[in-house]
Amino acid sequence: MTPGFAEWSDAPQRARIERLKLHDARPLDAPRVNEIQVAAGRTEVNLERLIADADRHLLVAECDGRVLGWAAIHYLSRSDGLAGRGHYLAGVTVDPPERRRGVGLALTRARLDWIWERADIAWYFVNAQNTVSIALHENLGFELVGTSAGVHGADFSGGLGLIFRAERPHAPENPPAKAKVPR
Ligand SMILES: CC(C)(COP(=O)(O)OP(=O)(O)OC[C@H]1O[C@@H](n2cnc3c(N)ncnc32)[C@H](O)[C@@H]1OP(=O)(O)O)[C@@H](O)C(=O)NCCC(=O)NCCS
Repeated sequence: MTPGFAEWSDAPQRARIERLKLHDARPLDAPRVNEIQVAAGRTEVNLERLIADADRHLLVAECDGRVLGWAAIHYLSRSDGLAGRGHYLAGVTVDPPERRRGVGLALTRARLDWIWERADIAWYFVNAQNTVSIALHENLGFELVGTSAGVHGADFSGGLGLIFRAERPHAPENPPAKAKVPR
């Protein structure tokens, strides 16, 4: 298993966390976010700096005051090959003991809603070996744009990156007006 990636499991989902609350990340969440990063085998982050960056938007998910996961959106003002300019889902990590309980999906849906309030397109790229992340995003409207050895400075550890984009879902159309019968 690649360090930092969750292990694929064919086991069914676990009981959903009912009292899950999502809110913007705050500097005081930094120690817990980095505890999760370490537990997940991922690099620690400077949360205060990320929060202060106007091109990023960070969310945490908590239950009864305990942060269980966090996620980021990053606005990239330039395209890079097939990967366009725009809002990217830029990482989501859930505390390993709390996985498969809907936290990652909730953080991802909330990030997409945030993007849809501002843009028509959402972007996401991922290491092709991160099958769990790909499954998480599968039913959220993403379509594969292409592959790349590196995109927007991301390191795919000698592997391949997959670039996805999704379009804002259309509001259900108004029912067509009834045609008047000419008299
Ligand atoms: C990817 C990650 C955020 C998913 O978080 P999670 O809270 O466990 O995900 P959810 O419970 O919301 O799962 C949503 C769906 O993703 C898929 N999924 C999640 N974990 C899976 C696993 N271990 N094996 C197979 N499918 C999985 C399933 O389709 C799942 O739906 P289901 O439970 O109804 O079957 C988590 O595994 C993680 O932190 N991984 C390490 C960091 C990482 O790789 N982040 C993404 C790239 S930046």
